[in-house]
Amino acid sequence: DSNKNKTINDNNLSARDEINIDNIDRDVPKKRVSLCRCWKSKKWPLCDGAHKYHNKDNNDKAGPVVLVWNEP
Ligand code: FES
Repeated sequence: DSNKNKTINDNNLSARDEINIDNIDRDVPKKRVSLCRCWKSKKWPLCDGAHKYHNKDNNDKAGPVVLVWNEP
């Protein structure tokens, strides 16, 4: 529990989240978005690369889920 990111949703008993991707700020419309699964990102729900440090410190293999879609 000491490695848990307590800044995110600490009141929930499980790690389920529903994310409206319409609300994710993106400077430029993209065809893909990387969502954090390690709970260490300072830009959560977006991956900011923090999983690399989490993995090194915890011998883990966490990484983002990447959503990819076709432009209309
Ligand atoms: Fe969490 Fe990349 S920062 S998966």
